[in-house]
Amino acid sequence: MIPVWEPVLDGNEKRYVLDCLETNWISSLGSYITRFEESVARYCGVPYGVACSSCTAALHLSLVALGIGPGDEVITTPMTFIATAEAIVQTGARPAFVDIDPNTGNLSVPEIARYLERGRFTSPNGPRAILPVHLYGLPAAMIELRNLAEACDLKIIEDACQAHGARLSYEGQSLYAGTIGAAGCFSFYPGKNLGAWGEGGAIATNDEEMAALVRTLRDHGRLSHYAHSAYGYNARLDTLQAAVLRPKLERLGEWNAQRRRLAALYRETLPEHGLTLLSEPEGTESCYHLFVIRSARRDAIRTALLQNQIECGIHYPLPLHLQPACRELGYAEGDFPHAEAMADSVLSLPMHPFLTEREVKTVSRTVKRALATG
Ligand SMILES: Cc1ncc(COP(=O)(O)O)c(C=O)c1O
Repeated sequence: MIPVWEPVLDGNEKRYVLDCLETNWISSLGSYITRFEESVARYCGVPYGVACSSCTAALHLSLVALGIGPGDEVITTPMTFIATAEAIVQTGARPAFVDIDPNTGNLSVPEIARYLERGRFTSPNGPRAILPVHLYGLPAAMIELRNLAEACDLKIIEDACQAHGARLSYEGQSLYAGTIGAAGCFSFYPGKNLGAWGEGGAIATNDEEMAALVRTLRDHGRLSHYAHSAYGYNARLDTLQAAVLRPKLERLGEWNAQRRRLAALYRETLPEHGLTLLSEPEGTESCYHLFVIRSARRDAIRTALLQNQIECGIHYPLPLHLQPACRELGYAEGDFPHAEAMADSVLSLPMHPFLTEREVKTVSRTVKRALATG
């Protein structure tokens, strides 16, 4: 069986955990956390990293830190995992979905501009922020997003849960995804490009106040042990996860480079007809959390892959505006045609740094054969 993903382990996880146990750093927010946060900030090239219990918590707390709450709207994509919308709803605000760019799968900036121009908002205060997702590891159109956000006085929180180490050219610099908005939020769920031994998340930010607020909010609004500035949350990263994550972060570049090599091989060996590959616009560098193809014959390809012991996935089969959980937002089928068409046609092929070139060629051959028959 060729798995669609594998936890990216470096084989030393037991040692990292044991080292941590032996130093008695089981207590929360100790030096393992601080050192990991410093590594996240250094890696991303920003002054602050704040570790959280998950990316959902990181997104939620970043929005809370911006003062977003009941009566507000946050513009986001329907083509994402539900956690993106959950974080918005948890603040009391309302997700306002806008359609995607079918070439990349990411939020369409012209669609956001149209939504803002139309001005038919469903919450009393209207939009306060944009929450782009760097889907599958491909950076969203951050330059255009930032220009629009600045012109309309909106904040940006980046959902970089799938985009550790993805890069984009920005004002003559090469920056990491997650470092342009008010905060970039990362997930360390085991299947991510940088995976913990359990749950984990973090924010990266250039903003001292954002870092301080999220730091306080994740720890019961603590100022000192029994002094609390606000009602906060228990959203701390587990010390053992920090012990595992910090050394693994040093290998992220190497693992991402391998993902990019495998993605290039897929692009070279997959058939030209019968499927579409998502584009990687100039100036962007995906970290290929997933390698996703689109095809009208998606289900036939999927059947053929499974028959050949090749796992695949669908990210995501139902866009958020059509999810039962989002029913009360009042959206209907047809509202976001590009997202709906994408959900009907996407297929995630196996992608992880331990996949071999031979396995990639086998997958490509199987896709080709599936498209050639019937
Ligand atoms: C796009 C996106 N946003 C948010 C999340 C939530 O991350 P976590 O599981 O760390 O809360 C995920 C996780 O899969 C995700 O893929």
